[in-house]
Amino acid sequence: MLATLIAMKHKLKSVFGAAVVVFGLMQLANPARTNPPVMNDLSATNAPPPEIAALLRAACYDCHSHETKWPLYSRIAPSSWLVVSDVNEGRQHLNFSAWPTDPALVAKKLDRINEVLDYREMPPGKYTLLHPEARLTEDQRKRIMDWTEAAAKPLPMASTNQ
Ligand code: HEC
Repeated sequence: MLATLIAMKHKLKSVFGAAVVVFGLMQLANPARTNPPVMNDLSATNAPPPEIAALLRAACYDCHSHETKWPLYSRIAPSSWLVVSDVNEGRQHLNFSAWPTDPALVAKKLDRINEVLDYREMPPGKYTLLHPEARLTEDQRKRIMDWTEAAAKPLPMASTNQ
């Protein structure tokens, strides 16, 4: 009985030791967290009212700009892998730091923003769970949507499908 217990304890110890080693090795494969220079911020060419700009900064800029505030968990594998790939993917779809200047493309981006807010797809729930300051109230969501509509109105409809 005692011998079995001691054997079990040894086994647990080596399993734990192996887990520590694996965790340590994972840290060597941490992906790069980049914040490239801001090229053309939204505010330079399609400046929203300050209140809307502040909401976008609080709720979207971590994944959709070059001004990402990298949290501690983005520095530690395995969560770093998920966060960095989310930011890289987010920037590809919509980048407030590389805002388009072609009016048709601007209209398209505004329409997409309106759509994801309408469907409550953004900001993602897994993100607001850890970033309550990024949560949008119904009123804030509505006001950003109103802005996208007002800003898109004078623009030509997008003819491209980018
Ligand atoms: C935690 C990171 C994160 C945050 C915060 C975030 N997004 Fe996203 N967003 C993504 C990712 C990743 C994608 C691409 C994959 C997808 O569509 O789910 C995306 C895609 C999009 C798209 C493109 C959809 C399409 O049709 O191509 C829009 C528009 C968008 N987000 C708007 C926003 C807005 C507006 C906010 C703030 C209110 C926001 N996002 C906050 C990660 C984020």
